[in-house]
Amino acid sequence: MKAELEAIQAAALEALKDVETADALESLRIEYFGRRGKLTDVMKGMGQLSKEERPVIGKLANEVRASLTDAFEATKNALESEHQEQKLKAEAIDITLPGRKPAYGKAHPVMQTLERIEAIFTQMGFQVVTGPEVETEHYNFDALNTPPDHPARDLHDTFYLTDGHLLRTHNSPVQIRVMESQKPPVRIIVPGKAYRVDYDVSHTPMFHQVEGLLVDRHVTFSELKGVLVSFARQLFGDQTQMRFRPHFFPFTEPSAEMDITCTVCRGEGCRSCGHTGWIEILGAGAVDPEVFRAGNYDPEEVTGFAFGMGVERIANLQFRIPDIRTFYENDLRFLKQF
Ligand code: DAH
Repeated sequence: MKAELEAIQAAALEALKDVETADALESLRIEYFGRRGKLTDVMKGMGQLSKEERPVIGKLANEVRASLTDAFEATKNALESEHQEQKLKAEAIDITLPGRKPAYGKAHPVMQTLERIEAIFTQMGFQVVTGPEVETEHYNFDALNTPPDHPARDLHDTFYLTDGHLLRTHNSPVQIRVMESQKPPVRIIVPGKAYRVDYDVSHTPMFHQVEGLLVDRHVTFSELKGVLVSFARQLFGDQTQMRFRPHFFPFTEPSAEMDITCTVCRGEGCRSCGHTGWIEILGAGAVDPEVFRAGNYDPEEVTGFAFGMGVERIANLQFRIPDIRTFYENDLRFLKQF
C-alpha cells in the first residue's frame, strides 16, 4: 500500500505538470480526490490493514493527500495569474496612439463681422443695447416719423403679425425705446436681427443690422462724419476712401448715405460696384426733431446723429460670395471656409 500511495503521488505530480486549463485541472482533481478517485480508493482500503500498519500508512496517506492538495492549489494559482495576465494584455490600451482631434465650432461669418463692428464702436465709447424683434407699428414707423402712407409700410416689405404687431423692418425703433428709458447724453449701438419680405441674391428675409445713435448738446454733422470715417477706416483699412451722398430717411434731416471705394476694384470701376468705383455701406443723418419729440427729448435742448448698416452686406464686401442666401443654408462645406 505504501508503494501504491507513492506511485499515486508521483503520477499525480507528473500529470499536474501538463495541466494548462482550469477545466483540465478540475478533471485531474476528480481523478484523484473524487468519490471514486484514486486516492479516495486507497483510503477506503485502510480498513483492511492490520493494527500495526494502520497508523503508519494512515500517516503516509495524510502526508500524500496534504502534499497533493498543496500542489493542486499551487497549480490553480499559477493558472489564475496566467489567465489574469493574458486578460490584461488583451485589454491593454495603446496610449502611444495619437488622439483624435475634436471638431471645433466657430462663429458664423456674419457673427464674425458683427463682432468686429461692435468692437470698433465700443472702443469709441458706444454702449451695446438690444430691443425686441416683434415690434409695434408705433415704434417701427410712427415714432420714426414714417406716416401711414409711407411706402415702407407696404405689405410687400413688412411681415405683419396680428394686433398692430410686426417683425421690425430695421433696428431704428430701439432709438425711441432708449430715449424713453434714459436721459441724454446717449451713445449706443443696436446689433440684431431685422426682417423684410425680400428674397434674392442680395437679400434674405431675416438679416442683421447695427443701428447707432448719439445724442448730446451741440452734436454736429461733422462729428457724425468723424465717427463713421474712423469706423470705416478701421474696418476696411486706411487706404479706403469715403464719400457722403445726400439721401432721404424719414427719421433724419439732413440724411446721407456713405459709400466706400469698391473693395473689389479699389475704385477703378467693376461689375461689383456697377462701374462707379463706390459701394454704399450705410445710411445716416442728423436726428429729426420729430423723432426727438416722439422719444420725449426736447429738440431745443439736444441734437444728435444716427446711422444704420446691414451686416450681411458688409460681411459680403469682405468675403465676396455671389449669393448672400448661402449664409443661411447651414452648409458646413461653406461655413468651414471662414
Ligand atoms: N433704418 C434704415 C434702414 O433700415 C437705416 C438707417 C438710415 C438708420 C439712417 C438710421 C439712419 O439711423 O439715420 O435702411
